[in-house]
This record gives sequence, structure tokens and C-alpha cells, in this order.
Amino acid sequence: MPALKTSATVAVIGAGAMGAGIAQVAAQGGHPVKLYDARAGAAAHAVEGIDRQLGRLVEKGKLGAEAHAAIVDRLQPVESIEALADADLVIEAIVENLEVKRDLLRQLEALCSPDCILASNTSSLSITSLAAGLEHQGRMIGMHFFNPAPLMALVEIVSGLASDPVLVACLYETAKAWGKQPVHARSTPGFIVNRVARPFYAESLRLLHEGAADCATLDALIRDAGGFRMGAFELTDLIGHDVNYAVTCSVFDAYYGDFRFQPSLIQKELVDAGRLGRKSGFGFYDYTEGAQRPEPVELGSETHVDACVVEGSLGVAEPLVQRLAEVGVKVTRRDGDGLLRVGDAVLALTDGRLACQRASEDGLANLVLLDLALDYAKASRLGIAWAAGTCATARDQAVALLRRAGLKVSPLADIPGLVVLRTVAMLANEGADAVFQRVGSASDIDLAMRAGVNYPQGPLTWADAIGLPAVVAILHNLQAAYGEERYRPSLLLRRLGAEGRAFHERA
Ligand code: NAI
Repeated sequence: MPALKTSATVAVIGAGAMGAGIAQVAAQGGHPVKLYDARAGAAAHAVEGIDRQLGRLVEKGKLGAEAHAAIVDRLQPVESIEALADADLVIEAIVENLEVKRDLLRQLEALCSPDCILASNTSSLSITSLAAGLEHQGRMIGMHFFNPAPLMALVEIVSGLASDPVLVACLYETAKAWGKQPVHARSTPGFIVNRVARPFYAESLRLLHEGAADCATLDALIRDAGGFRMGAFELTDLIGHDVNYAVTCSVFDAYYGDFRFQPSLIQKELVDAGRLGRKSGFGFYDYTEGAQRPEPVELGSETHVDACVVEGSLGVAEPLVQRLAEVGVKVTRRDGDGLLRVGDAVLALTDGRLACQRASEDGLANLVLLDLALDYAKASRLGIAWAAGTCATARDQAVALLRRAGLKVSPLADIPGLVVLRTVAMLANEGADAVFQRVGSASDIDLAMRAGVNYPQGPLTWADAIGLPAVVAILHNLQAAYGEERYRPSLLLRRLGAEGRAFHERA
């Protein structure tokens, strides 16, 4: 089914942050839009706000004055729900409460024509349960925008058990016509983004809890090596710990306490203390006037190294070898198991085992483990960890080599999987399970994580690049190291890895 015609009337209920943004998107998409809020005057106030924001775009030359006037003309604040009777699509963005939303939907069903599509912007409620009280359940569909709706490209089009596939297709095309990047998601807790993103927060929180490094160092590694826009601590400080913790708890509860989604005690403590992040002036970081952001820890070295030996392939870390060669380090290649030797040190990409465990199991003296980088050719920082038996000279030689390549080197305690590789492996694991459980397709999951939360690469594409057998091995090693179910590899990841396949088969 094609997109709704621009002549179709869109009603948006709830004129808060999300409703106002969605109304703007629909009006920019060419529809007459009615905006309603239970609070008197709230809809008109929201339209004034949209008018002002678009006015700023006109001043910056990003929007024509005529287009601005036409968009605002199409936005009609209304003060009674009865005024929405002629709507072709209603999108509700009211308070996140199942009973309140159900009441509203029943009211709408009595009011609007049977052909009117009912959509919900809920981020955590089941579309199936929202539909349950309705006579025509097929018309109830999730349309989950991201904040701020006019700027964020992603819209999750969420199907409940009874959602009519024809109407689902219509909303998908409509979101596209509004300039958005829609993805299909089955109504399951967290849909795609709020589920697959959980390990991004959870792994950093756990690493902090276990003393792997401080917040500033962990954030810097996620940003400067992982290529994410923000680390987990600065991001949760921005989102608000009350909000982020509540989402984690709701997903954890919804999956019957699956330890994959276990909330963090240190985040709970922040919530208990009222340290909610930027909005309260304090979270993991201090936002009070004049407060200094702590610097990430970085290792220096006075040693000069001008040669190294590469044994076998470093796999996903191979571009590091090229980078070393480009700055004049003499690289000698020979057969082997993916090791990089400099002086007394042996460097290797982490495989999820502790450095001390791998040093003893593989008989590697002076072992230094390297973390993952999104792009080893461009990363500005890399995390390392070493076995307790690694001597200071070897450590220094390893640091000197990496610094020679222009990398800042941040030390980590000997923890399994380090920071970026562990986070990416767990994001890919969650994405894999979401594909396996038919929540969404691999390409929709990757698109959702790029367009909804700005990940530098879809987690499944990333897993393909690392190699699925390597990702499975990392997860197995993490699972063994912790003795916890949390790190169990998804069956789909294992199956594809064993079959020599990938999430995105090369053409
Ligand atoms: P908000 O609190 O800013 O706005 C909600 C608005 O709904 C308020 O203006 C309130 O007066 C109105 N309202 C409440 N009950 C009503 C009713 N029965 N009838 C008419 N109006 C009613 O909330 P926000 O943040 O805009 O969220 C709205 C919905 O969007 C929720 O379901 C939320 O889970 C979802 N969402 C929120 C995101 C966010 O980042 N804030 C992101 C994606 C979805």
C-alpha cells in the first residue's frame, strides 16, 4: 500500500516534546495536522514553538519564508478531542501509561472512521496490549519516533499481533515520504533500538563497577577508538539516569530477568542520590559552574622503537601494521598466530580471555592485549591491558610502538574483552538475537542503530568485519571468564559463524 496522500489529515495527541516534533514532521510532509493536548492551551503553545523554531531555520537560510508559512498554516491546534473525528491517521504521544493510552484509543475508536489508522509513539508499551481493547485491532500500529523527532531520521514501525500488514506498509511508506528512515519491528520489549542498545550502557557500567578504568578513560576509548559520538557515561548523563535506568529495568523485567539486561547498581545509586546527570548538575561528571572534566588516563614512553615483527594476520587490526609502516617503523612479516612483537613485548588483539589466562595458556611471556578500534588507520586512541607477569620494559616498548603510530594509549585493568571489543561483541550478540527472534531484519537492525542512536556502524556489519567465529569466541571466553549467562552467544551468531556465513552476504 502506498503512503497516505498529503491530503490525508493527521491528528497528533499530546503536545509535549515528542507530539510537537511529530506534528511538525507531518506538517512538513504536506499534511493538514491537528494537534490536541488534554492540557488547555498546550497545543497552541506547541504550535507557537514550532513556528519560532522554523523561523530560526528561515533566518539561517535553511528554509524558505513561504515554506515556513505553509507548514505553520497546516498546523491546527484544537481544544477538544471531538475535533479529531475526521482524521485519517492519529498518532498518540501522551503520557507513557498503558491504561491511560488504552482509554484514549477506545475513545478514538468511537470517534473516528473505521478506516482511520491508530498509531502510538510509545517507547516501551506493547502494541499488542494497546490494541487489545479495540474493536478493530488491525489498525493499531507503533510509530516510534526518536527525540528530537524533526531531526532524528529513524522511525520504528512496530507491528503488534493483530496489526494489519497493509496498514503497516502504508505507515512505512508514509514515514519515508516524510523524509524519515523507517524500519520494521515486531512488538517485543524495547523494539529494536531500546533493546539492542542496552549493552552499550551495561558494559561500560560494568567496567566502571569492576575498576577497569575511570569514567573519562572509558568514555574516551568508546569515542576515540570505537568511533561512537559519546561514551556511555557522558551519554547517560545527558539522557538522565532516571530515564536510562527506568528503560533498562523495564527491558530487564519484560525479559523475565534475563541477565543480559541486568541493571547496574552504580547507576541505581546515582538515581537514589538524585544525581541524574546534566539536568541535576551532577551525574558521573560534575556540571556545576567551573567544574573541570577529568582527563582520560594516557601512558607516555621515552623509549624509541623502529622495528616490529608481525606473525600471521592481525585480522581486523591489520590496518595498524600499515599505519606503523607509514610512520617509518620497519615491519618484518612471518607466519604465526596473529601476534605483533616489539622488543620483549608480544601484542595481540584481545579474544575475550584475561591477559594472564592467555599468557599462561598460550605460553606468551610479556603479553600486552589490544582493544578493538572502529578503524585502526584513523583511531586516535587505543586501550591496552597486560598480564601481571608482563615486565615494565615490555609494557613500555608496546606503548612506545603504539605512540609511534600516533595513538594515545590508555591502560586498562586485566579484564576480559577490554572495552570496545566487549561492547561491540555484546551489541552484535543482542542484534543477532533480535534477528533470530524475528524482531527485525539484519539490515533494519543495523539501520536502526545508525539512524536512531548514531552508531558509527551497524553492530551486525561490525560483527561481519571482525568475523563471526571470532565474535563467538570472544563471547564464549567472556562467558567462561565471568561464569555468567549474560555473555552466552546467540544461536544465530554461532550458526552463521559455523556455516562460514555473514549477516550481510557480500554480493
Ligand atoms: P511529555 O510529557 O513531554 O508530553 C506528554 C503530553 O501528553 C503532555 O503535554 C500531556 O499534557 C499530554 N497528555 C497526557 N495525557 C493525555 C491525554 N489523556 N490526552 C491528551 N493529552 C495528554 O512526554 P513525551 O516525552 O513527549 O512522550 C510522549 C510519548 O512519547 C510517551 O509515550 C513516550 O514514551 C514516547 N517517547 C518519548 C521519547 C522521549 O525521548 N521523550 C522518545 C520516544 C517516544
